[in-house]
Amino acid sequence: MTVLVTGATGNAGAQVVKELLALGQRVRAVTRNAAAARLPAGVEVVEGDLTRPETIPFDGVTGVHLLSNAGADYAALLTGPELVQRAEKAGVRRITVLWSGYRSPLEEAVTASSLEWTVLRPMDFMSNSLVWAESVRREGVVREPFAYARSALVHEGDIGAVAAAVLVRGGHGGRTYTLTGPEALSVPEQVAAIGAAIGREVTYVEQSEEEARDEMLRAGRPREVVDVLLGWKRDMPAEGYTVVRDVEDVLGRPARSFASWAREHAGAFL
Ligand SMILES: NC(=O)c1ccc[n+]([C@@H]2O[C@H](COP(=O)([O-])OP(=O)(O)OC[C@H]3O[C@@H](n4cnc5c(N)ncnc54)[C@H](OP(=O)(O)O)[C@@H]3O)[C@@H](O)[C@H]2O)c1
Repeated sequence: MTVLVTGATGNAGAQVVKELLALGQRVRAVTRNAAAARLPAGVEVVEGDLTRPETIPFDGVTGVHLLSNAGADYAALLTGPELVQRAEKAGVRRITVLWSGYRSPLEEAVTASSLEWTVLRPMDFMSNSLVWAESVRREGVVREPFAYARSALVHEGDIGAVAAAVLVRGGHGGRTYTLTGPEALSVPEQVAAIGAAIGREVTYVEQSEEEARDEMLRAGRPREVVDVLLGWKRDMPAEGYTVVRDVEDVLGRPARSFASWAREHAGAFL
């Protein structure tokens, strides 16, 4: 079985690739820049752009993992319907769609298709915490707004494991899975877990929303993206902090905790 993975160079996609290889599958990884892509040995690396569906090589592929947005501005992938049509025509059997916070044209098309589809709805990735790595290393500080907000963060390795299990083992067609970790944590609780993992005190400093906005804009993030991200954190919908057991149901083991993620990534914070 060959599985085509989009977003393979990203936080979640890299884990999909890793888990597929562990299950003995052949992997075709799509990237816009093959020369810059760092992918494991044995992976077939192809250049393609989701905004140009004719560049995505679905031939000879039985399973596909698709992103539902593309580019730095997280814009919805308007080519979703054409991608699904091409996948169907090429004889693809199973497909996972990674949700991006809204019902995308890709999700619309895939759920209306003849493919064995599964939508994966991850909540905040634990890897988002890596944006704190530099200030923790340099000053032992994390600055973030909204101390009260809790999030049912998901380990990106669990996203990869669920996608691989769905694509390889089958039996999940027509399902939408909400992917969360085992607990909802506030930022101060995440900061404490990082401190425990690296054996150093890390101080949480609550920013105002404006300070956070300025910092994100200075870092070059598009204004619309900043508004969406801050809005999500400020008024998080219940699905953002509600723990769901779908990871455990699919994998037959508990979802991984933030404490274990922090131990695995301690090196980034030291
Ligand atoms: N972070 C979160 O908390 C969170 C929560 C829910 C959903 N999501 C969604 O999960 C998805 C993956 O996030 P991530 O953090 O793993 O991604 P990431 O690390 O930011 O990497 C982005 C990936 O998207 C690929 N990509 C971007 N535009 C593309 C295009 N036009 N054609 C083909 N590939 C393209 C990039 O590939 P190349 O650069 O190699 O071409 C890269 O692999 C995103 O769609 C995001 O919206 C994220």
